[in-house]
Amino acid sequence: MFPAIKANALYEGKYPMSTAIARPLIAQKLVEVAHEERATAVAHGCTGKGNDQVRFEVAIRAQDPNLKIIAPMREWNLSREAEIRYANEHGIPVPADLDNSYSVDQNLWGRSIECGILEDPSAEPPAEVYEWTSPPEEALERPVYLTIQFDNGIPVAVDDRRLPPVEIIRELNLQGGRHGVGRIDHLEDRLVGIKSREIYECPAATILIEAHRELEKTVLTRHEIWFKETIDSEWARLVYTGLWHDPLKEDLDAFIEKTQERVTGTVRLKLYKGTARVVGRSSVYSIYDADLATYSAASTFNQAWSEGFIQIWGMPTVVANIKSRQNRAKIVKPAAQAGASLQQNL
Ligand code: ARG
Repeated sequence: MFPAIKANALYEGKYPMSTAIARPLIAQKLVEVAHEERATAVAHGCTGKGNDQVRFEVAIRAQDPNLKIIAPMREWNLSREAEIRYANEHGIPVPADLDNSYSVDQNLWGRSIECGILEDPSAEPPAEVYEWTSPPEEALERPVYLTIQFDNGIPVAVDDRRLPPVEIIRELNLQGGRHGVGRIDHLEDRLVGIKSREIYECPAATILIEAHRELEKTVLTRHEIWFKETIDSEWARLVYTGLWHDPLKEDLDAFIEKTQERVTGTVRLKLYKGTARVVGRSSVYSIYDADLATYSAASTFNQAWSEGFIQIWGMPTVVANIKSRQNRAKIVKPAAQAGASLQQNL
């Protein structure tokens, strides 16, 4: 989860990738156990339609290309109903039945819900799909303020209480959930090319990424921020599409890690009726300069310089507009003449 926070990881700008980031670790453990057991094959329960089959299999092969991979759901081309029936008939406990066939995946970073009525993207998700979050309209009437401290991009304290990171994430899931924060309704592009409607509950991820991004805005230059936006979205796409083990991911991590040297400070948020809004930020590495920014008489910014700056900054745009008007005039004239002579001939 730390690399995901540092990368502000939101696939297609929305999904904190709670399922996606879990797969490489599960695959690693799977390979470890397979080796302990001297197994020659491993199996997974993914269908042939999703991202997880890709994530598991690429991660397994990256670690041991000799393990055979068996995917019964995909190989037998089972529907979800057939899968549930198979599980029931063979005494395999699954948290789904034929009337309530939501597909749910969850871990500390979030809860993913698919299937059933959710497959109609025009229909509002029924209340029953949510388990971690209160409906925002029924959430507490009073807002709560939270102060989150980050050290080098990692959350280390909430409201001045230093806690182990896992505790911080648990606590933010609870507090955020109580205020209805972190409900995500996403029409998502899967790697296999299918668009799918997904619901997520990710209170801690929503809060932490919002806070982390804001702290970066306080300490990084605009050049770093703009460049990092493209690195962050590339990171999210790589990890979403199962390429956790690609060397590019390590390259991106190296850049991201370097930027986090200054991402130390606190962010204050207000949780209220489904929203987590940043209301304050501070850092010893802040490059915000109040003397430059102020509109009061104390300002040290020389406004006279702006005049020349604007001339030069806007020059290419202004020149392009002038030229395009001139060029249009040149092109339009012969066309108008041609039109006139055509009319005479008629
Ligand atoms: N679409 C998400 C992803 O690919 C979540 C998949 C969740 N799986 C599930 N069985 N609900 O990361």
